Amino acid sequence: MKLKTIKQLKNLKNKTVFVRVDYNVILKNNKVLETERIERSFSTINYLLKNKAKIILASHLGRPDGKPVKEFSLRPIVKYLNKITQKRVYFADDCLGEKVQKQASSLKAGQILLLENLRFYPGEEKNDAKFARELASLADIYVNDAFAVSHRAHASVNAIAKILPAYAGINLADEVINLSRLIKGFKKPAVAVIGGVKISTKIKVIDNFLRKYDYVLIGGALANNFYAAQKINIGQSVYEKDFLPLAERLMKKAGNKLILPIDVRVSNNLKGRGAVKAVNIIDLTKVKNKKFFIVDIGPKTELNFDAYMKLAKTLVWNGPMGVFEIDKYAHGSEFVAKNAAILSKGPAFGVAGGGETIAVIEKFKMKNWFDFVSTAGGAMLEFLEGKILPGLKPLKK
Ligand code: 3PG
Repeated sequence: MKLKTIKQLKNLKNKTVFVRVDYNVILKNNKVLETERIERSFSTINYLLKNKAKIILASHLGRPDGKPVKEFSLRPIVKYLNKITQKRVYFADDCLGEKVQKQASSLKAGQILLLENLRFYPGEEKNDAKFARELASLADIYVNDAFAVSHRAHASVNAIAKILPAYAGINLADEVINLSRLIKGFKKPAVAVIGGVKISTKIKVIDNFLRKYDYVLIGGALANNFYAAQKINIGQSVYEKDFLPLAERLMKKAGNKLILPIDVRVSNNLKGRGAVKAVNIIDLTKVKNKKFFIVDIGPKTELNFDAYMKLAKTLVWNGPMGVFEIDKYAHGSEFVAKNAAILSKGPAFGVAGGGETIAVIEKFKMKNWFDFVSTAGGAMLEFLEGKILPGLKPLKK
């Protein structure tokens, strides 16, 4: 997919550029706990600063449902931006209205203004044209640098890009180039490792990989659906009942391409209290009690996954293998993270992505080992499904 990017813009001096960023990050007590998405926006910001543009940054945070909610204010992010950029970044306590118009029009070249949460207005999520026109009236040029929200047909992602001259930011273009390499012209053997919880959000991407890739390895709570479809006792582990017929069909269609865990780690307690035991899947059919939870993949599965992952010239990993937040249940996720990282440094083009995946990578400090780490969750999955995302469509050359 070829995009129009800001690097193609010749004269940015004194132009006001509306940059849609994704600062949907974790905040606690007004502190930014997750900085990756913010840091990724600096390449575009620095490019615009170098070219003497005036910058308006706009983002959503959380899901405030179209009304102002204090805990979803972007104000704490300004403090972080000031510290990191060592510049005074201005804050507008709204994203529309007269006051914001004044703040925007008094910007000088090289100055930055961050708007308040776009989702404080219902027009944002409704892709409302009037709301988009009001946002557009603040600037001369629109830049989308928020790949992670580009699967949403929202006003600041889609409608505005039809009003102003629209370009891709550097971070967004980077995401598109790297993720495209996973679905077009990729080297084989290609292996996808998919974990996480909700099969409803991953079924399409699994299906797409089963059609294109050599092997798809499934871990985490996703695998429970495939066991439940085979009437294997999964105790109290989560699964999605409505998706069992689909899981069954997928298994039939996939044949030996779909690799499920052959053993799992189980515990009677999800909070980390109590013993952890590895059990073969085949033996779970004989277990009568239902008082256990599957918390991780097992040691035999790790070795089996390793054998498949080692074959890969293209390797993609999305989603943890278990309840990785609790150290006792993080072994399988650590194993996959380190293995994928080492293979990415070595023979494979290796990409990891998704919110929880990044948390695993950060936990085990493997970030710099991958060829690319996507900061997107849903957007990455939908892109890999082969969909044309509503945020990317208006940026196409
Ligand atoms: C994300 O974190 O995946 C994006 O910021 C999109 O957020 P949303 O799922 O609330 O639209």
